[in-house]
Amino acid sequence: MLQAIATAVVSAVPNHVPVTAKIRIGWDHASIVAPEAGLRLQDAGIQALAVHGRTKMQGYSGDADWDVIHRTAETVSIPVIGNGSITSAEDVNRYRRSTAVKGIMIGRAALGYPWLFREIKHSLASGESLPPPGLEERWRVLLRYARELMENPPRDSLWNQLQWMRPRLKSFTKNIPGSRQLRAKLEQVTTFEQLQAVARESLDNASDQTGFCMTEGPSLPATR
Ligand SMILES: Cc1cc2nc3c(=O)[nH]c(=O)nc-3n(C[C@H](O)[C@H](O)[C@H](O)COP(=O)(O)O)c2cc1C
Repeated sequence: MLQAIATAVVSAVPNHVPVTAKIRIGWDHASIVAPEAGLRLQDAGIQALAVHGRTKMQGYSGDADWDVIHRTAETVSIPVIGNGSITSAEDVNRYRRSTAVKGIMIGRAALGYPWLFREIKHSLASGESLPPPGLEERWRVLLRYARELMENPPRDSLWNQLQWMRPRLKSFTKNIPGSRQLRAKLEQVTTFEQLQAVARESLDNASDQTGFCMTEGPSLPATR
């Protein structure tokens, strides 16, 4: 069935359009099929393969199995993009060195911490780690994200948009001073204005503690 679907898709699109696929490693730990599935997809004309190193039964829990991802990458000749449990530039470097993957895909870690990509890029280019973003940059990006989300709500979502993005708001607070109290406040926000107020308070508290004064004030995005 897998091969039949892939073959049908490949033959339905123009030759110059590459068709790629993404699979999990198997249904459960008793049926790990990624290397074989990879071969079948390759035979069907798939040109690159992303492998999420968890089973269907795992859902999003537990660690991704990078041994199976590696075995799949060694079995097929098309490029394999490894996916699952990547949270840092160190992870990228480790799996680049120790597996046969040609690329890496990041899911949840990037949702609350988009700076991960520049940290990885920097680490790949220089071998050095980049310091994490400062508080002002974090708030600026978070507020822009919140505003754009509210202006472009996800289709079919009946939720208040800020409520929808609360898990993301929380993950933005990782490793910043007073993150516990901040998270409690973020649980309560229901409007963009409230979110802005939390941002200002957080930045004011930080400048009190460091003696740092922002003469122009935090450059927070305007409310619409
Ligand atoms: C909010 C969200 C949406 C996702 N949507 C898709 C999707 O449309 N198609 C897909 O193949 N995987 C989707 N995934 C799975 C991710 O691409 C990825 O395989 C998974 O999160 C494992 O990687 P991670 O451990 O880095 O999060 C989604 C994951 C999340 C968290």
